[in-house]
Amino acid sequence: RLLIIDFGSQVTQLIARRLRELKVYCEIHPYNKVDDAFLRAFGPKAVIFSGGPASVYWDGAPMPPKAAFDLGVPILGICYGQQVMMHCLGGQVEGGHGTAEFGKAFVTPTAERLPLLDGWFEAGDEQVWMSHGDHVSKIAPGFQVYGTSPNAPFAITADVARNFYAVQFHPEVHHTPKGAKLYENFVRLAGFKGDWTMGAYREEMIEKIRAQVGDKKVICALSGGVDSSVTGILLHEAIGDQLTCVFVDHGLLRLGEAEQVVKMFRENYNLNLIHADESALFLGQLEGVSDPEVKRKTIGRLFIEVFQKYANEIEGAEFLAQGTLYPDVIESVSFSGGPSVTIKSHHNVGGLPEKMGLKLVEPLRELFKDEVRALGRELGLPQSFIGRHPFPGPGLAIRCPGEITGEKLDILRRADAVYIDQIRKHGLYDEIWQAFAAILPMRTVGVMGDGRTYDYALALRAVTSVDGMTADYYPFSHDFLSETATRIINEVKGVNRVFYDCTSKPPGTIELE
Ligand code: XMP
Repeated sequence: RLLIIDFGSQVTQLIARRLRELKVYCEIHPYNKVDDAFLRAFGPKAVIFSGGPASVYWDGAPMPPKAAFDLGVPILGICYGQQVMMHCLGGQVEGGHGTAEFGKAFVTPTAERLPLLDGWFEAGDEQVWMSHGDHVSKIAPGFQVYGTSPNAPFAITADVARNFYAVQFHPEVHHTPKGAKLYENFVRLAGFKGDWTMGAYREEMIEKIRAQVGDKKVICALSGGVDSSVTGILLHEAIGDQLTCVFVDHGLLRLGEAEQVVKMFRENYNLNLIHADESALFLGQLEGVSDPEVKRKTIGRLFIEVFQKYANEIEGAEFLAQGTLYPDVIESVSFSGGPSVTIKSHHNVGGLPEKMGLKLVEPLRELFKDEVRALGRELGLPQSFIGRHPFPGPGLAIRCPGEITGEKLDILRRADAVYIDQIRKHGLYDEIWQAFAAILPMRTVGVMGDGRTYDYALALRAVTSVDGMTADYYPFSHDFLSETATRIINEVKGVNRVFYDCTSKPPGTIELE
């Protein structure tokens, strides 16, 4: 196994991700938890020093354990990891002098070839991503330079005899296009076979959950989305009946959704599942509410109340399981308390534990969305659940601008089902990040047969996106759009007009409210 010593970089988890892609097992441990004894007991086959925000000259600057350099295994230092390596081995690091570099840079190779860089420089200089204030000003004895950038004369350095490698840039990020190749070379040099699997990860997670929870009880809010489903199933495998899942049906789900979710879990996984049908409560409290923020806050508040009510019935529950993913962790670290404006009050399960005095179990904290999907496949979750488009916590409420009524929800559900059916039939579902219908707060005049109609208008939305933060509207063909509009108007009573929303994000948002 490989040990990543974390010096606090925002992108340390990306290193782990790159290694998992190479089927190499690794663990991340913070620098202040790794001493010589830990290191010897861990017995890594290779070590990576991550980047970090510190300067090696600060008082109490984070340092790696001395023993790291005596293990006789390959070490790769990245950014701060490079600087700290040079500092420990007799080189020098400097700050200031206008040599900070943030963003894209190009590295030029020196004359000598380095096996770590196999596949690099085939078409000249390589693009890398830099993010550093300090830089190495003198390399440690035994090291040589293998690549330079305008502001980092020691962009790539190595002591080949000892298998120590140190780079100033971040090979783990997307903007270093050949970064994955560098990691591949590194693990090859360290002798990894690349035979670790998602199945092995599942076993490790199960062991970790058991160790954390012991014989205590856990509750989990299940939404039917990928993240909470994988969390629930994983927990169930780990602790069986110590887990109770609560599926809150707020009456704002899509056509047949509640039944599908409950059926899938009851039939495939024999877990304790409470189907909390609280639609009357939610819809009652939403009556007459048309302001988007009031809607969102009402639903958020009721969700907590309802969840708490069911949780109280589960005697002795000490833990709350959540499907928090790594990008959620990073976003809340970087943006919490920041000066950003609230566009929408997102409603998530987050925030529950403080009020409820429960400890958190978050088995997906280290994973990215596509890895969660892979884990879901490993756990036997049907593809129809794994590949689902995201669905917001407040559900159809935010796809029904203005006041919510039973009639509107009913029309919306049926129209949305036809629209999604069309998308699936045309084989477009997996190309689209998210697609849904929204019912507009207006009626328009139409003519059907020989009669006048005065019915609701619908907006169809479909976007492509990587993370939901920005999005482009999906360029359906005119044929697709007219066929879909015709089907909806023919099949869904109460709709006589269909619009396609061709707004990207920004300036629009994905949901209408
Ligand atoms: P917006 O509308 O903000 O949506 O562009 C971005 C993504 O977030 C989803 N979304 C939510 N997800 N709770 C959630 O869990 C919410 O309150 C919420 N509001 C929006 C939305 O569906 C899209 O994927």
